[in-house]
Amino acid sequence: MLLPVLRRFLRPYRRDVLLVVLLQFLQTIAALSLPTLNADIIDNGVVLGDTGYILRVGGVMLAISALQVACAIGAVFLGARTAMSVGRDLRHAVFTRVQRFSLAEAGRFGAPSLITRSTNDAQQVQMVTFMSFVIIVMAPIMMIGGIIMAVRQDLGLSALLLVAVPVLLGVMVFIATRMGPLFRTIQGRIDRINLVMREQISGVRVIRAFTRQPTERQRFALANTQLRDTSLQVGYLMALMFPVVQLIINVSSVAVIWFGAGRIDSGAMEVGSLVAFLNYLMQILMSVLMASMMFMMVPRASVSADRIHAVLDTEPQITAPERPRTLPAGRMVVELDAASFGYEGAEEPVLKDVTLRLEPGRTTAVIGSTGSGKSTLVNLLPRLIDATAGSVRAAGIDVRELDPAELRARISVVPQRAFLFSGTIASTLRFARPGATEEELWQALEAAQASDFVSDVGLDARVEQGGSNFSGGQRQRLAIARALLKPADLYVFDDSFSALDYTTDARLRAGLPAATGGAAVLIVAQRVATIRGADEIIVLDEGRIVGRGTHGELMDTNVTYQEIVLSQLSAQEAA
Ligand SMILES: Nc1ncnc2c1ncn2[C@@H]1O[C@H](COP(=O)(O)OP(=O)(O)O)[C@@H](O)[C@H]1O
Ligand SMILES: [Mg+2]
Repeated sequence: MLLPVLRRFLRPYRRDVLLVVLLQFLQTIAALSLPTLNADIIDNGVVLGDTGYILRVGGVMLAISALQVACAIGAVFLGARTAMSVGRDLRHAVFTRVQRFSLAEAGRFGAPSLITRSTNDAQQVQMVTFMSFVIIVMAPIMMIGGIIMAVRQDLGLSALLLVAVPVLLGVMVFIATRMGPLFRTIQGRIDRINLVMREQISGVRVIRAFTRQPTERQRFALANTQLRDTSLQVGYLMALMFPVVQLIINVSSVAVIWFGAGRIDSGAMEVGSLVAFLNYLMQILMSVLMASMMFMMVPRASVSADRIHAVLDTEPQITAPERPRTLPAGRMVVELDAASFGYEGAEEPVLKDVTLRLEPGRTTAVIGSTGSGKSTLVNLLPRLIDATAGSVRAAGIDVRELDPAELRARISVVPQRAFLFSGTIASTLRFARPGATEEELWQALEAAQASDFVSDVGLDARVEQGGSNFSGGQRQRLAIARALLKPADLYVFDDSFSALDYTTDARLRAGLPAATGGAAVLIVAQRVATIRGADEIIVLDEGRIVGRGTHGELMDTNVTYQEIVLSQLSAQEAA
C-alpha cells in the first residue's frame, strides 16, 4: 500500500517533486563529471607541467562543484519540505477520518492503535518519502552513469566491476532480507510497549489496590526486553554491514590499483585515468549501498502505509445524506419507533422493538438494571449509532434523512461517563456554548447544584485531562451544567445522578423544569427515587420494554418495577 498512499499524498506537491528530481539529476551528473576532469588535469596538466591548463580545468571543476552543492541544498530543502508536508497531511487525513467515525468504527481499531497510526506510522512514511527523494533518483543514475564513465576511462579495469558490484549487492541483499522482517517485528514490539505503558498509567489505581506492581513490572520488563533483543539483532546486522562494505570497497580499490599499476607500467593506461576510475568505483559502490538501505526501509514503511490506509479506507457508517432534510423551527418531538439495535458480531440485539415518544415539557424516565440497554437507547437519539431495525424520528423525520450535525445541535446529552476537557471550569463549560456569559455559567452551575463547590475554587480553577482532579459527583455536576448551557429541544441524562447523594439529587431534579425551559427531558437511572416524579416511566429489561406508566401505575401493575422498588427500599432500610 506504500505506493498508492504516496501517489495520493504526493499529488499536491507534484511541482516540488519534479523539481527535486531535476535537481538530483543535475547534482548526480555534476558528481559524475568531476573525476573525468580530474583525470584530465593529472594527465594533461600535472604530467605535462601545464599550469594554465590546471587552472582552467580546475576553475571549471570549482564551478561544477558549486553547481552540485547548490543543487544538493535545493533538493534536500525541497525534499524535506515535501516529506514533512506529506507527514502532516497523513496525520490530518487520519484525524479527520477518525473524527467522522461512529462508535462502531472507532471501536474496531481501538484508541491506542489509532494514535500510533496517526503518529508513528505517519512518521515512517514521511521518513521513507524523504529518503526516496535523496536516493531513488540519485542511486540508479549514479550507478549506471558511473559504470559508463568507468568503462570510458578504462575498459580493461572495468572487468573488476563485474566482481565488486555483484559481491556488494549480494552482501546487501543478504543483510536487507534479514533486516526487513526484524523491522516488522520491531513495529509490533513498540505497539506492545505502548499498550503495556498505557495500561500501567491509566490503571495505576487498580494495580496498586491489588498490589500487582511486581507482576506488572515483569510484564513491562518482558515487552521491553523483547524490543531490546530484536533491536540488538538489527544492531548486529548493522555492525556487520559497515565493515563488510568497507572491506569490499577497500579490496576493490587495492585490486584497481594493483592491476592499474601494471597497465600504466605497460603504457596501456594513464595515471589520471586510474584516479578517475577509483573515484567512479567509489561512486558506484556507494550507490549500491544507498539503494540497499532503501530496500531495508521500504518494508517498514509499507507496514505503516498499510496501517494508515486501513483507517483512511474505512467508511463511516453514519454520514449525512446527499440532500439532507431540515428540521422545522420550534420544539421537536423525538420518537423511537419499534427500534432495535444489535452490536456488530453479537448474536442477540441489545435493544428489541423499543417504542417511545419524548415530548416537549414532559419528563420521561427509563429504568433498568445494568446491561439492560439504557445507554444504547440514549446513543440512538443523537444518532451516534443507527437502529438496526425500526427507526428514530425527530419532528416526524427519520434521523437518517437529516444532517447529523443539525440533529445533534438540538439534543443535549450528559453521557454516563462524564468527560470533561482540560482547561478551566469556565472553558470546559463553554464547550457547550462558547459565548456564554459568566452569569449564564453560574446559572447553569446553580441548576446543576455545582455552584457551592465551584464558588470555593472559582470559575478559573484548573480542570485536568478528563476532569481527574474532581470527584465523581463533582464531575457529573459539571457535565450536567455544561449540558444545561446548551439550548436544546431534548435533554438526556444518562445515569447522571448516580454519584449524587439523595438530597442533591432531589434538589437538582426540582430545578430541572426551569433549567430546561420546557424542552423534553429523558432521565435514565437505576434509582427509583430519581425517577418517581417522571410523567412516564419506562421499565427496560434485557433490551425490551416490560412496563410503562407513572410510578403509581407501575407500583400497582408491574412486577419488574415492584421488584426494583422493593430491592432498593430494603437496601435503604438496611443502610
Ligand atoms: N461497544 C459495544 N460492543 C458490544 N457490546 C456492547 C457495547 N456496548 C455495550 N454492549 C452491550 O450492550 C448491552 C447494553 O449495554 P448498555 O446499553 O451500556 O447498558 P446500560 O446502559 O443499561 O447499563 C450490554 O450487555 C453490553 O455488554
Ligand atoms: Mg449505561
